[in-house]
Amino acid sequence: MKKILLSGVKPTGTAHIGNYFGAMKQMVDLQNSGNYQCFLFLADYHALNLIQNRDEMKKLTLELALDYLAIGLDPKKSILFKQSDISAHTELAWIFDTIVTVPYLERAHAFKDAEAKNKEINVGTFNYPVLMAADILLYDTDVVPVGQDQKQHIEYARDIALKFNHTFGPKNVEEYKDLIFKLPDSLILDTVAVVPGTDGRKMSKSYNNIIPLFATREEITKAVMSIVTDAGIGAIGTDGKVSDGKPINLYNIHKLFKAKDKLDQLYEMNKGKYKSLKDDLIEDIDAFVKPMRERREKLAKDPKKVIKILEKGAKQAKKIADKKLLEVKKAVGVL
Ligand code: ADP
Ligand code: TRP
Repeated sequence: MKKILLSGVKPTGTAHIGNYFGAMKQMVDLQNSGNYQCFLFLADYHALNLIQNRDEMKKLTLELALDYLAIGLDPKKSILFKQSDISAHTELAWIFDTIVTVPYLERAHAFKDAEAKNKEINVGTFNYPVLMAADILLYDTDVVPVGQDQKQHIEYARDIALKFNHTFGPKNVEEYKDLIFKLPDSLILDTVAVVPGTDGRKMSKSYNNIIPLFATREEITKAVMSIVTDAGIGAIGTDGKVSDGKPINLYNIHKLFKAKDKLDQLYEMNKGKYKSLKDDLIEDIDAFVKPMRERREKLAKDPKKVIKILEKGAKQAKKIADKKLLEVKKAVGVL
């Protein structure tokens, strides 16, 4: 029996190398390992908290579908779909809403961040972890590959599964196999848990510090040239160690693209020569991205084909999700 892997990304903007190394690459690698049945989706209902413009939503969703296919997600091996196509996600989220408490959701990092910014927070943002729990639990997911920032959300999914099982599952705790929801684990690779951006903070669309994944040579050059290199002797690197004068931020990005021995040699030979080091990084990124970029350009010529792939994936996912939802409806007594 294959293990179940599930993950999603929100169509909220340009995919970047942080998304790729932090989460998307694991999706491809594990899909190709043959050991997992993979459910990979576009979290468009989550994105709706941010993207509230019809044309933009359509455009960003298609773009992310292209990204998925271009990095090597394969509809013959994985089930690729759009979250909003499967109404069981939102329906289950409502059922979870009735067992999840307000103080519990108030402890979520994302909520606290939004609150600290003094934003008027919409209910969708507040409820974000509940919909995400539904995404995950509907498919009996074993593993969820994500970046570090999503760890708490997976813990929420586990907690919600436990609470549901406790409230509505079989009373005999010996019967674990009959519990309704399986507890998922996050899969976070230490080395890429937090990919730094051009300013040294976590790379993120919202910080304006990204290197786009499908960037052209010119865009790569522009982003790399803006990488901050001023971490001198005594600065603390993202690995928590005191820097020996290496431009730690540049190095940490570069190590995603070059083997450590070669990289150390390069930085040793080019001490203080930030321009040469950056030129080398531009070459490395361009060589790495080029085949994916070309594949994406080809796919972009046939958007109908992409839409068909998502429709087919939705049909496959729906069967499984609806079956689970039926079990849940029986368990709570509405059926
Ligand atoms: P962003 O912060 O740019 O909006 P998303 O929230 O869309 O990114 O993240 C999509 C996926 O990529 C998630 O699994 C997230 O954990 C991962 N991810 C995002 N940024 C990084 C990063 N800098 N390092 C590692 N993983 C990341
Ligand atoms: N919250 C995730 C992010 O910001 C996207 C997401 C939604 C997700 N549902 C999910 C990730 C279920 C993994 C599993 O990137």
